[in-house]
Amino acid sequence: MFYGAGMSPLQTHARIEPATDSTIALAGDLLRHGQLVAFPTETVYGLGADATDDRAVAAIYAAKGRPSFNPLIVHVADAQDCAGLVRLDDRARRVMARFWPGPLTLVLPRTDNSPVSLLASAGLDTLAIRMPDHPVARAIIRAAGRPVAAPSANRSGAVSPTLAEHVAESLGGRVGLIVDGGPCRVGVESTVLDLSTPRPTLLRPGGVTAEQLEAVLGEPPVCPHQDAQAPKSPGMLASHYAPGLPVRLDAVTWQPGEALLGFGAMDATLNLSPAGDLEEAAANLFAFLRRLDDSRFTGIAVAPIPETGLGAAINDRLRRAAAPRS
Ligand code: TXA
Ligand code: MG
Repeated sequence: MFYGAGMSPLQTHARIEPATDSTIALAGDLLRHGQLVAFPTETVYGLGADATDDRAVAAIYAAKGRPSFNPLIVHVADAQDCAGLVRLDDRARRVMARFWPGPLTLVLPRTDNSPVSLLASAGLDTLAIRMPDHPVARAIIRAAGRPVAAPSANRSGAVSPTLAEHVAESLGGRVGLIVDGGPCRVGVESTVLDLSTPRPTLLRPGGVTAEQLEAVLGEPPVCPHQDAQAPKSPGMLASHYAPGLPVRLDAVTWQPGEALLGFGAMDATLNLSPAGDLEEAAANLFAFLRRLDDSRFTGIAVAPIPETGLGAAINDRLRRAAAPRS
């Protein structure tokens, strides 16, 4: 029996295993069954989950204790595994050919039928994707047989882990298995390059430099972090999902014409979690908002959601969705 995000709170010690054929196969099995696995990449250790499984992705946010849903990076074993997940243009193909595998993440438009969880990309129409340059990372992704969403394997606000022991110290029993591949070679997170915009935009500096990118792109990437007006935190650079319809929070009444997004035992158009389970609610949040954002309705009313645990991240996103548009 292995433990995932739903494990006993008494389990505080993570299982650290050296990377061998059998632990890689086990990691693949756990991922396919919706469990969390920490694994080495060339940059930092990642906290992985099946990127196509909303519940598994919700478990990442729960384990990290993030106060909001930052979009996650989806990892693939081979460049051709991107097809079907994101739309590639000529610029993307050129930088992939030059820098993959390696510490370069590309933000690209999601395909219409992308199987990747909307929660992984925090409801956005774009997806961050990368092919890590670490044999253990790629072997685990291949063993899972699906794309793997993985933020750095630390609690929110803590430094990124470059040793298996760091992961154990930060996440403890919140992760079922930590695969130990020794120290990470690069030690800082990947460069994040947004190619969903007309001008290539550097969202986060990292192992691949702006100069290297310029040489391949034929133009320097725009660097919003050098702009004094721009937000300082890379996570804040990602815009967020906003429905077209007005959103009304903490709704205790259901007005005619409105769609009601419920939580807990109640009548609703769609219910995030009839059982009142915040992880289930997080898993459903973006997919349900999109289904209700429909001209059959005049607005979306959202039932009150407790501010505890993942509820803080759910309410953060709902408040942004309800904020007046500029
Ligand atoms: O080196 C790395 O990239 C590590 C290893 C594990 O691969 N992963 C990592 O993930 O650093 P994370 O979740 O800690 O950082 C993801 C970054 C954030 O700054 C996030 O805002 C940005 O990527 N990002 C993800 N999806 C995005 C999107 N659709 N649009 C804009 N930014 C996005
Ligand atoms: Mg991080």
